[in-house]
Amino acid sequence: MPDVTETLRETALRDIAEAADAAALDAVRLRLMSRKGEVAALMQRLREVPPGERPAFGKAVNELKRDLQAALEARQAALADDAPSGEAIDATLPGAWRRLGRRHPVSRIIAEVAAIFRRLGFTVAEGPDIETVRHNFDALNTPEDHPSRDPQDTFYLANGDLLRCHTSPVQVRYLEAHPPPVRIVAPGRCYRRDTADATHSANFHQVEGLYVDAEVSMADLKGDLHYFARSLMGPEVGIRFRPHYFPFTEPSVEVDFSCHVCGGGGCRVCKQSGWIEIAGAGMVHPNVLRAVGCDPEAFRGYAFGMGIERIAMILHGVEDIRWLYENDLRYLAQF
Ligand code: PHE
Repeated sequence: MPDVTETLRETALRDIAEAADAAALDAVRLRLMSRKGEVAALMQRLREVPPGERPAFGKAVNELKRDLQAALEARQAALADDAPSGEAIDATLPGAWRRLGRRHPVSRIIAEVAAIFRRLGFTVAEGPDIETVRHNFDALNTPEDHPSRDPQDTFYLANGDLLRCHTSPVQVRYLEAHPPPVRIVAPGRCYRRDTADATHSANFHQVEGLYVDAEVSMADLKGDLHYFARSLMGPEVGIRFRPHYFPFTEPSVEVDFSCHVCGGGGCRVCKQSGWIEIAGAGMVHPNVLRAVGCDPEAFRGYAFGMGIERIAMILHGVEDIRWLYENDLRYLAQF
């Protein structure tokens, strides 16, 4: 009687394959596999089979049952896979979204400063964070007893090198490797033994500027920094120079921008002065040129250095420098 099982197998497999959805498949399953279904009915007919053939018949029916079960499961999985929306997908649920990354405000300002000076013909240079005393102090004409050399202020390594306390050593490195004319900006990290508070961090960023050529004057410095100020803050911004002292420039100045908030009248941001300090600058000291093998009779230059966090704080109204470093994305995502 094996042909009976084969007949049922054929129709059953066809019906399973043709079941168009889960409900149709369920109906086929009931018809075939339930307690009073077609497979069970076939098993009932075991009694009609001559005793000698019963083992073979029972085996054939069991195999049929197993195969149909597998076919039902496969068809069910296939139907679930390409189920149309409705059951499987709720199109009204809000979509999953990925938070977009963005650049840190400090990185953005570095890029912006570099872009502005690139328009003035500057290129971007870099130097190492770990410096020699020669590059960080000696070649920059820093006196032996200058307070910034003190281990209270500067981080020294066991081998006598140090973590640079400003980006000015890049002036030295660049001039050692490139004869003038030289026009670079050099952004980078700096390190000082400062106790962290709202305006100090032991690790911060500067951008150094250096322009050395046969004819470079204080007027170039002022014109270029004014262009920079207007590009960064807007056309209304003015700058002023205040006399200052740095070992590596002579004359030296501190550079202020007129306050972008009050326009110079005085407000909370500029502490009522109308001006905001932005950079140190000056004409490169002849001793610095000599230290890098550059003839001070043939070349002069200007240099400046500004704090990036300071600019970020002024530009974005950041009241505490530490907010820039806590890496709280809720805060940083505002910029
Ligand atoms: N290196 C100085 C500082 O860290 C800034 C500066 C750079 C001043 C270049 C003059 C010229 O304060």
